[in-house]
Amino acid sequence: MTLLALCATDHVPEGEARRIEAGGFDYAVYNLGGVFFVTQNLCTHGPGNLGEGFVEGDEIECDFHQGRFDIRTGQPTAPPCTEPLTVWDVTVRDGQVCIDPAAGRKTS
Ligand code: FES
Repeated sequence: MTLLALCATDHVPEGEARRIEAGGFDYAVYNLGGVFFVTQNLCTHGPGNLGEGFVEGDEIECDFHQGRFDIRTGQPTAPPCTEPLTVWDVTVRDGQVCIDPAAGRKTS
């Protein structure tokens, strides 16, 4: 497993999301109460950037059509989103939010 560092933990304030480009891919990094989560940045409905969306509880609201996803699972929770996001398990190492890029998964 090769870990990729996406950003420093203090780059993502609690209750917010950030769009991070790393290794040629756009990720969205979230901080929920000091616990970090990562999904794909691109909304599965269209061109919305989830890392620039609005965190509401455990959900991210897309800034494009206001669809929503569960940040922890990637499952869509509000229309018009119907397709899940790819999510990655996070390892925090040396103050960096890290993922294994090859280990992204979608729950159906
Ligand atoms: S692009 Fe995200 S809800 Fe349409």
